[in-house]
Amino acid sequence: MLQRKDVLGLRDMTREEILEILTVAQEMKKRIDHPELRTSELHHTSIVTLFYENSTRTKTSFALAGKYLGATVQDLGISTSSVNKGESLIDTGKTLDQMGVEIMIMRNSYTGAPHVLARNVNAHVINAGDGSNEHPTQALLDLYTILEYKKHFEGLKVAIIGDISHSRVARSNVFGLQKLGAEVVLAGPSTLLGSAQLLGVKTTSDIREAVKDADIVMGLRIQFERQKTTNFPGIGEYRDLFGINQEVLSYAKKDVLVMHPGPVNRGVELSGDVIDGQNSVINIQVKNGVAVRMAILKLLAKGGEA
Ligand code: CP
Repeated sequence: MLQRKDVLGLRDMTREEILEILTVAQEMKKRIDHPELRTSELHHTSIVTLFYENSTRTKTSFALAGKYLGATVQDLGISTSSVNKGESLIDTGKTLDQMGVEIMIMRNSYTGAPHVLARNVNAHVINAGDGSNEHPTQALLDLYTILEYKKHFEGLKVAIIGDISHSRVARSNVFGLQKLGAEVVLAGPSTLLGSAQLLGVKTTSDIREAVKDADIVMGLRIQFERQKTTNFPGIGEYRDLFGINQEVLSYAKKDVLVMHPGPVNRGVELSGDVIDGQNSVINIQVKNGVAVRMAILKLLAKGGEA
């Protein structure tokens, strides 16, 4: 049972907790296409989103997930809030606590910011991405998508390619996939692999080697906003050496799933025909994000009862 106060990362989540979220998400997914199946079971639950960094998918899907379950959902709107008058994260959290907020969903550029908030508020805290550390709900929706198509994790080869060193998505996926028995290979320019080898998975700068016989190929966005130095000569060189196109994809299994957390730099980390091709499940990932976030909100609000 998911009897925990907060969802901060997959590093500290058990295999059983992960599988429980994925199981509940299956039931939730039906409610996206069938509004008549939606309930108001969280009508006593108040949710606030605090996004200190930009977002389309995560913020909107959390808001919709809460509304599909009948919860009250409010966005703090960081740029127009008292954060701009210098209010600290802890004071902001304590203020929202007093307003009766049960669940706070936060994205922040600082690693560990959600952990600080969680220690200082009564509300449940969900990490919607902290710096280059973790993005647990993205990894959970990725795991859900893999399970939906492949039906198992054991023995699958997952190649994650791109800006590994700045990717919270890669880190959370590594933690989750390792617990579920998949083989992970991280690939990218050596300047963007960082300390990836410390995660206990294979790393390489040869993307054809990474993609060879892969069941899943996951591209990652180049996170220029987190890069303090120039890590490769230019976009053109990056695309030519590390871009995933049909030629690169031909090294993978025929039924390979092409994934990307979004937003995608079209024609850079993935070619347009790969993004829109028959192996791509990028749009399905977005839908599954709503289902997985519904499952997490429901399990947290109900103390682990589905
Ligand atoms: N994948 C992801 O986190 O997308 P957003 O930045 O749009 O939320």
